[in-house]
Amino acid sequence: MTAAQSSKAVDLLSASKPPTCEEGMAFMKTAVVFQSRYGSTKRYAKWIAEELSCDLWDRKKIKAADLQPYHTIVYGGGLYAGGVLGADLLAKHFQELRHKNLILFTCGLADPANTSNTDSIRKSLGKVLTPPMQDAIQLFHLRGAIDYQKLRPIHKAMMAALHHMIAKKDAGSLSDEDKEMLATYGKAVDFIDQAAILPLIHYVRGLERSD
Ligand SMILES: Cc1cc2nc3c(=O)[nH]c(=O)nc-3n(C[C@H](O)[C@H](O)[C@H](O)COP(=O)(O)O)c2cc1C
Repeated sequence: MTAAQSSKAVDLLSASKPPTCEEGMAFMKTAVVFQSRYGSTKRYAKWIAEELSCDLWDRKKIKAADLQPYHTIVYGGGLYAGGVLGADLLAKHFQELRHKNLILFTCGLADPANTSNTDSIRKSLGKVLTPPMQDAIQLFHLRGAIDYQKLRPIHKAMMAALHHMIAKKDAGSLSDEDKEMLATYGKAVDFIDQAAILPLIHYVRGLERSD
């Protein structure tokens, strides 16, 4: 999708936006919570909160108890070595949160259009979320950005180690994610796309209609 198409898609979405609570309708309360190291997840979280006209929280500034008033929680976390930043919020507090609509979006460099990438994210999430948690949480995957020049030393070192490991592999045994890592290593790449939030927005609006 081109930038012009993306912005048109988002405009169209705004045009069909349902009335907000402020407009007198009894819609359920939604919160978007995010944890982001370099800002990609935060950008998506802000766009989602704007589209849904709902509250936006930084994961580091809230406690699980702050989420009690909400019917729907959209959690977004950056992907780091397969793990989703802050996803433990949903896992540790699942008992209190399980009666709510729970949505988790990941933000990583791997292309979510490739099912082998999303399968591997789901597999890693399995280390944090039990099968009942995974059944209860609706997943979305969004694509982020990286600028190696701006990485903190610890992250530079982690990426260098990963690159070293992948570069040693047999060309035939490289996964798509490996190939992508080799192609983007050391560069600044940005795959952030505002229109990519649309499926998540439609999903949440569908919940609003059915509640
Ligand atoms: C140390 C490190 C590990 C990463 N691991 C992954 C990963 O496992 N999968 C992935 O898709 N992207 C990975 N990335 C890319 C980040 O997910 C990507 O830069 C994302 O946009 C970061 O989001 P944030 O800025 O909100 O934290 C990694 C980046 C760094 C620096």
